[in-house]
Amino acid sequence: MLTIALPKGRIAKETLEKFEAAFGEKFIFEDRKLILEKAGFRFLNVRNQDVPTYVMHGAADLGVVGLDVLEEKEYDLIKLLDLELGRCKVAFGLKRGEELDFNKSKITIATKHEKIAKRYFEEKAMAVDIIKLYGSIELAPLVDLADCIVDIVETGETMKQNGLEVGPTIMESSAHLIVNKNSFYAKKDLILDLKEKIEAQL
Ligand code: PRP
Repeated sequence: MLTIALPKGRIAKETLEKFEAAFGEKFIFEDRKLILEKAGFRFLNVRNQDVPTYVMHGAADLGVVGLDVLEEKEYDLIKLLDLELGRCKVAFGLKRGEELDFNKSKITIATKHEKIAKRYFEEKAMAVDIIKLYGSIELAPLVDLADCIVDIVETGETMKQNGLEVGPTIMESSAHLIVNKNSFYAKKDLILDLKEKIEAQL
């Protein structure tokens, strides 16, 4: 039996579709249930940012999570496969018509991705103030909480509708299948078989 942590929402749905195609079974979570057991799999329905935590602690053997979440926390896990879904990028958002002023003595950035933003500016040896937010990041420049934001961009629609423009990209992201290190050795055959079958669906 393999336990797989899936992030709530569209990525879970698209991942389960790949499992359906790979194993010829229907995998559907009932109404509010958080566990789905079928055909040798146990799927867990968890919050996006919690996926690596379940896998790190071995509560799940595998998980599906965006590269941006992995980069943000630097977990000790195996990245097994790029599922090529949930594609997005982590990019700057600036007020329309504005540019990143690298000559400014200090730039203030609002973001959920503190580490990714910090690393970007450390590489440029620039001083920045990072304000951690948990959501509605696009609001920050509009009310002068920050000069700009670093956030997930999928279609760019959220920034557009809030008078922001998509600036430089920091990283590309997509959903990856991750594995707990101990599970990988203890259940290697099962996991490699799964990898092969899912890979054939990509
Ligand atoms: C992300 C991000 C943006 C939006 C971008 O939020 O924070 O608000 O998606 O998508 P778009 O470019 O297609 O408009 P998400 O929906 O993941 O919610 P979250 O803030 O709860 O993570």
